[in-house]
Amino acid sequence: MRLTEKILENDWIVACPAEEVQEEPIQVVILNERVVIFRTDNGVQAFKDLCIHRGAALSLGTVKDNCLVCPYHGWKYDETGDCVEIPQLPEDRAIPTKAKAIKYACKEAYGLIWVNFNNNAPELFDYPEYDDPNYRNIVWGGHVVDAKPPRIIENFLDVGHLAVLHGGYLGDEEHTEIQPYKMNNQEDGSIFSDEIPIFQPDPDGSGVAKDVYYTYGIYRPLAVRFTKRDPDTDHKFTILLLVRPIDENSSMVYGIMSFNYDNQQTDQETKDFQDIIFMQDKPIVENQKPEDLPLDLQVELSLISDRVSIAYRRYLTDKGFTLGTA
Ligand code: FES
Ligand SMILES: [Fe+2]
Repeated sequence: MRLTEKILENDWIVACPAEEVQEEPIQVVILNERVVIFRTDNGVQAFKDLCIHRGAALSLGTVKDNCLVCPYHGWKYDETGDCVEIPQLPEDRAIPTKAKAIKYACKEAYGLIWVNFNNNAPELFDYPEYDDPNYRNIVWGGHVVDAKPPRIIENFLDVGHLAVLHGGYLGDEEHTEIQPYKMNNQEDGSIFSDEIPIFQPDPDGSGVAKDVYYTYGIYRPLAVRFTKRDPDTDHKFTILLLVRPIDENSSMVYGIMSFNYDNQQTDQETKDFQDIIFMQDKPIVENQKPEDLPLDLQVELSLISDRVSIAYRRYLTDKGFTLGTA
């Protein structure tokens, strides 16, 4: 049974990187539901990964003539989900009207595939870096994490841990203090922080330690970002972080890394570095208790420097977001 979370079901949920969907259909588990994603001449398509005939997984089948063909008895479903061919039926027999696959809205954007369960045409949030010719974009992940989505998102929004958990990489253990900053509501419903100075040992690869400026942003319950800006060069590096809830206890994490400068690394080197950082975060997040993010701000002890995560918790409360929260 699909996990219920109205906000997500009415929105676009990240399914996988676009490049994972080639000629063969693939299965992606979203909110505990198996979904098959495949490509036709008209773009990407998503169905519930279930054949109504005998319950086979359609993702084990093939794509033929812009249709998805079930591997078990060869029933053929067109892009709308209608069954258009049943090999076992004598030719003069009509196809039963109930022979359909359950279709979900599906689209490709920002180098990723997105699924909308309720087919209600939501607007995808705007990630301007992706369409800006001054930026190079790299899709990162997925990584499976045994944690619930809000804990993973909050870890990404946590400015105080950079100098400690990522000391030597993203911060310096001698510079752990966080200056006061504010969170600002935007007209489109997103929330962005002021720029927050972080002292980093080698922010641009030149070997010179200095302050860089982090701006955190919340677009959606499971779509957040930060931008790191170098004040001397105005070089900007953004990560958009996206989480797909797999089931009750596990999540898939994706990112888009966007650079408006040449970071002197290949895509693979850039992803490898992000993996190193992420592997420092992963055991922390997988072992946090309670697993559900407490939305009652009295339950854990917040500092002023935790304003981004406080804003995130309030945002989830305002939205009535329940998945992985308490
Ligand atoms: S189970 Fe799909 S065609 Fe029989
Ligand atoms: Fe981290």
